Amino acid sequence: MRAGEEKIYIDPVTREPLRLVDEVRKGDEIISGALVNSAGHRHEIRDGVPDLVYPYELPAVDAEALQKYEERADAYDRYLPLTFSTYGEDEEAVRNAMIDKLDLKPNSIVLETGAGTGRDSEIIARRLGANGKLYIQDLSPSFLAKNLERMHGVDARVEPALANGYYLPFADNTFDAYYHFGGINAFGDIKRAYAEMARVVKPGGKVVVGDESMPPWLRNTEFGRVLMNSNPEFVYPLELDKLPVEARKTRLEWIIGGVFWVIDFVVGEGEPKADFDFPIPGVRGGTHRTRYFGQLEGVTPEAKRMAQEARAKTGKSMHQWLDEVVREAAKRDLGQKD
Ligand SMILES: C[S@@+](CC[C@H](N)C(=O)[O-])C[C@H]1O[C@@H](n2cnc3c(N)ncnc32)[C@H](O)[C@@H]1O
Repeated sequence: MRAGEEKIYIDPVTREPLRLVDEVRKGDEIISGALVNSAGHRHEIRDGVPDLVYPYELPAVDAEALQKYEERADAYDRYLPLTFSTYGEDEEAVRNAMIDKLDLKPNSIVLETGAGTGRDSEIIARRLGANGKLYIQDLSPSFLAKNLERMHGVDARVEPALANGYYLPFADNTFDAYYHFGGINAFGDIKRAYAEMARVVKPGGKVVVGDESMPPWLRNTEFGRVLMNSNPEFVYPLELDKLPVEARKTRLEWIIGGVFWVIDFVVGEGEPKADFDFPIPGVRGGTHRTRYFGQLEGVTPEAKRMAQEARAKTGKSMHQWLDEVVREAAKRDLGQKD
């Protein structure tokens, strides 16, 4: 961890700044020490890597994922190429195409979560210049250690940390781009993970996320059944309803034999905006706003038929006719004059 980074990291749950204590430095690198929150919790820094994982006691689903990955760290890079060669895909080309979607500039500040052994991290880092920076994070110390070995040959500035993909230890609007591939299906809180992406990426920044899932239209084919039988991870659904409301220009692509999805979006602010106030032509009339916010109570079928006849006779829209009738009756009963 480079000296000064203690000002970038925040407590992943309270989001308060952290205090660096007991630090041991080598040049401008902080080799060990701790980042402490106001309640006194110590996020230890070991071998230059801060441990910012929260919850301190992981939920069972994440604890199991962590154990699984810790056990597989040595074999991962040996077998991973099969994920691509099964479908005749070129891993380097596929990963580069995903990273293209980040729209990186040499000075981009990028976060990668679930970065694993760095098969994408290396590609991202090589696209950054001296003013760019890549934060690589993972839950698994063994995977992160392998990632850092791979990063030895890379010039770009890389900052590693242990962190949970759905409790990010960064202030709002910190990054130009966010990347994750391959772990989100099993995260303990996927909706929170997406909300965190939208929180830490600046408005206008890019998010690129992908994982495996047999698409719904292939689940009952021989192709789908064979693959899901061998690898239960293909059974995970793609849950689009978990995306954040801030997602704009959202695109979905099915890649790697059509059995992995990759979603990219631009981070917006709050809900999308639209004009709710222009008069809508036609018999019903009104605006989007009056139709949604101006509803009153229902009437008898007879009163409805009479209202429709009267409206037709006047040639007004139903909105205009009703609005006038209601106003007149309300003024009369309230004793108001024009
Ligand atoms: C299948 S690997 C993918 C690694 C890498 N992105 C790649 O494409 O090769 C999934 C990674 O996600 C990490 N992971 C799993 N759950 C996580 C969580 N809740 N937060 C952060 N990382 C997590 C695992 O430790 C593992 O390194």
